[in-house]
Amino acid sequence: MDRTRYFITIEGGDGSGKTTQSLLLKEYLKIKGYRVLVTREPGGTDLAENIRNILLNPTSKLVPLAELFLYEAARVQHVKEIILPALKSGKIVICDRFTDATIAYQGYGRSLSLSFINKLNLEASFGLVPNLTIYLDIVPLKGLNKAKTICEKQYHWKDGDRFEKESVQFHKRVRRGYLNQAKKYSTRIKIIKTQNDLEKTQKLIRKVVDMEL
Ligand code: TMP
Repeated sequence: MDRTRYFITIEGGDGSGKTTQSLLLKEYLKIKGYRVLVTREPGGTDLAENIRNILLNPTSKLVPLAELFLYEAARVQHVKEIILPALKSGKIVICDRFTDATIAYQGYGRSLSLSFINKLNLEASFGLVPNLTIYLDIVPLKGLNKAKTICEKQYHWKDGDRFEKESVQFHKRVRRGYLNQAKKYSTRIKIIKTQNDLEKTQKLIRKVVDMEL
C-alpha cells in the first residue's frame, strides 16, 4: 500500500540508540521511494532547539512543572511549524521522541499528574497521534553509561545532561512509564529490545515498519 502522511515516533530510554536508528530507518524508507523527514523533540525549530538547551543543560534549575511547560511549548512550535506541514505535503515523518516521552519522564519520572499531561499533550500536538511508535527498550544502567559518553563528547557536560544525571531509580520509573504506555496502547506502540548490534536492532525496526506501512 502506498502510505504517505504517516507519522512514526521513536521512543526509548537515554542511550537506547533512537537517533541512529531514526536515521537508518529514514535511509531505508527513502530507498523504498518515500519522502521522509526526520526530526526530534525537544527541538526541530530554532526556538524549540533553544528550549532544548535550557532543558538539557545541567545548570538549569527547573522545577518539574516549569520543565513540563517548556517541553509542551517546544512541542507546539514543532508540530505547527514542522510536523503538520511535512505530513500535509505527503511526507513520512519520523520523530525522535514525542508525547509518550512526556508521560514517561514528567509523569512517571517527575510524578506529575498523568491526566494533566495527557491534556497538555493533546493541546500541544493539535490532536496529532503517531500512527506507529517504536519503543526501544534498554536496561537503564546500560543505556545511561552509553548516553553519558556521547554527551560528554558532544556538549562537554561531564556526567551527562540534566536527565542523564538523574538517579537510576528515576530512569527505572521512566522505563516503567514507557512499558505501561505500550501496554495501554498496544496497537500503536511496539516494543523492540535494543540489541548490542545496531544493524540487528534496525532489522527488527524495519520488520515492524514493513508490517504496518
Ligand atoms: P534526547 O533527545 O537525547 O533523548 O534528549 C532529550 C531528553 O529530554 C531525554 O532525556 C528525554 C527528555 N524528554 C522529556 O523529559 N520529556 C519530553 O517530553 C521529551 C520529548 C523529552
